Amino acid sequence: MVEHYPFELQPLPYLYDALEPNIDMETMYFHHAKHLRTYIDKLNETLAPYPQYHAWTLERLLLHLNELPGEIREDVRKNAGGVYNHKLYFESLTPVPRELDGALRDAIFLNFGNYNSFQKTFSEMALSLFGSGNLWLVSDNRGKLAILPLSNQDTPLAIELYPLLNLDLWEHAYYLKHQNRRADYIANWFPLVNWEEIGRRYQEALIANALQNMP
Ligand SMILES: [Fe+2]
Repeated sequence: MVEHYPFELQPLPYLYDALEPNIDMETMYFHHAKHLRTYIDKLNETLAPYPQYHAWTLERLLLHLNELPGEIREDVRKNAGGVYNHKLYFESLTPVPRELDGALRDAIFLNFGNYNSFQKTFSEMALSLFGSGNLWLVSDNRGKLAILPLSNQDTPLAIELYPLLNLDLWEHAYYLKHQNRRADYIANWFPLVNWEEIGRRYQEALIANALQNMP
């Protein structure tokens, strides 16, 4: 389904309590039903008087921010970014563990040595991200991986990197359960990553890049 204006709050692919005890039900509920909904409502409000953008997808809005009128560009950047990043975040998690394998496993081993050193580097960078933002695993246009911290609701799309996985490091993602203990949230988040879904995104990135690089 291609999403465009008016954007709607889609249900999570699992129940609010499905990620317990790693992420508690209350946090999931507020994060999805309140925080994500607010981004959706604000994005719709911003776009309402501009019917020429009503057929644009989230990706198109974020990839072509500079084509939007100056008076709405910043609001679209924040709110379309907020919708896109949360959608990716929620869809990256699963109550049923999924193994890392295939091309993404090979790329993680090639880039980081092994899974444990990837997890260690990712955790350290998540811990040191200043303020609010997301830590990303991204692919460049050759399939090379990188870990990238971005502030607020910025997305890798805007800098032509392909988003694979994001860890939401806004306090609303963990404060109810862990308060200021961000390290506990990070350690509890890792076992929930749906590597099957992240591997699928990596395959999509490789295909998109192969098509783009065709002579
Ligand atoms: Fe969030």
